[in-house]
Amino acid sequence: MTALDRIIERLTSSDDTAESWVEFARDLQAPITCHPPAIEFSRRWAGKADIMEIAALEGFAKEIDVMTRSLRHGDRCLLLERDGRIGAFAWVAFQDYRLAIWRTLHLPAGVAYLVYIFVRPEFRRSGVGSYLLGCLMQHLRNMGYTRLISGMYADWRPSIDLHRKAGFQPSKKFIKRKLLRIIPVPPKEMEVET
Ligand SMILES: CC(C)(COP(=O)(O)OP(=O)(O)OC[C@H]1O[C@@H](n2cnc3c(N)ncnc32)[C@H](O)[C@@H]1OP(=O)(O)O)[C@@H](O)C(=O)NCCC(=O)NCCS
Repeated sequence: MTALDRIIERLTSSDDTAESWVEFARDLQAPITCHPPAIEFSRRWAGKADIMEIAALEGFAKEIDVMTRSLRHGDRCLLLERDGRIGAFAWVAFQDYRLAIWRTLHLPAGVAYLVYIFVRPEFRRSGVGSYLLGCLMQHLRNMGYTRLISGMYADWRPSIDLHRKAGFQPSKKFIKRKLLRIIPVPPKEMEVET
């Protein structure tokens, strides 16, 4: 630890779980389960024409142009559809992914990153998320990928439980920090509890 690191350590606050970020990893060579839910869906990869609907479901958290470019550059998004509407989607990236100013996730060959998984509220708690994640993992394995990484806020129980149920293990944990509670500094990487 450098002298600067020690000073930052002393002057930062980092006790808020809502500010922590956890990364989970799944070995895609381990068995994958993919049980269809009771509600029937059709499945396909998203194309450019789906971006607006996906963006709306995400609450327009990302710009349409950025999403379109990401798909063109190789990202993929698996959709579950019902009655002509997207009921759920899972977006996955294969190239280094900028998570924050401080952190770019480097993805070596064979490793993919689950950017976002979403199930429409009316279909939740019926096994749809597990089915979609299972299908996505099977597709990735068939495409030659061996590991899937995913990240989320450490207090986001639905997502954490969904990932654990699908066989993910925590791999990294980061605590966001602020110098004197005001100035953002690089997050601190913590030990993970498995
Ligand atoms: C997270 C999400 C995708 C789960 O989808 P889902 O279809 O409800 O998931 P499933 O019904 O397959 O549930 C699988 C497991 O996830 C966990 N889970 C799902 N919703 C949960 C909730 N509200 N609280 C706690 N655990 C939950 C449970 O362990 C569940 O297994 P169980 O039903 O045997 O208890 C969905 O809640 C969602 O779209 N949330 C908003 C978007 C989001 O937060 N995405 C994750 C971003 S990292």
